[in-house]
Amino acid sequence: MNTHLHVTAWVLAVILFIVVVVLHKSGKAKGAKIVQMILRLDYLLILYSGGTLLAAYFSGPQMGEAIFKGLAGIWAIFAMEMISLKMGREEATKSWWIQLAIAIILTLILGFGRLGFGFLP
Ligand code: HEM
Repeated sequence: MNTHLHVTAWVLAVILFIVVVVLHKSGKAKGAKIVQMILRLDYLLILYSGGTLLAAYFSGPQMGEAIFKGLAGIWAIFAMEMISLKMGREEATKSWWIQLAIAIILTLILGFGRLGFGFLP
């Protein structure tokens, strides 16, 4: 249940983030702001579902990996937020795009590759 919520929440975040970027690129600052607010609510859903998944790993043999998975996930969220903000202020975003790419790769490797393909009930 929580894994499904988690995956749904971050897939939705990726979609909303792309919409924010496209709106900023086409100069629709107001629309971008609105979608950004929805994206922020979705971050909470990711944190909540990820947090409860993480709790299930505590004191288990994969606790360390699960903690790093969570940190990588938080880093990915932070990078998405920084890019959205900086695009709004027309500031440089390149370093945050690089960080986002690294964070997402790490998150996917640790999430799918290391912590198992299975969906926890
Ligand atoms: C954009 C951010 C995030 C992405 C893209 C992401 C992606 C993923 C993926 C692909 C999985 C594997 C799902 C499966 O097992 O089939 C996963 C699981 C997990 N995530 Fe995230 N996640 C993100 C944020 C977070 C955050 C913020 C936390 C912790 C606070 C977190 C904690 C976990 C934990 C503990 C699991 C292990 C569940 C399991 O497979 O047993 N994630 N995540």
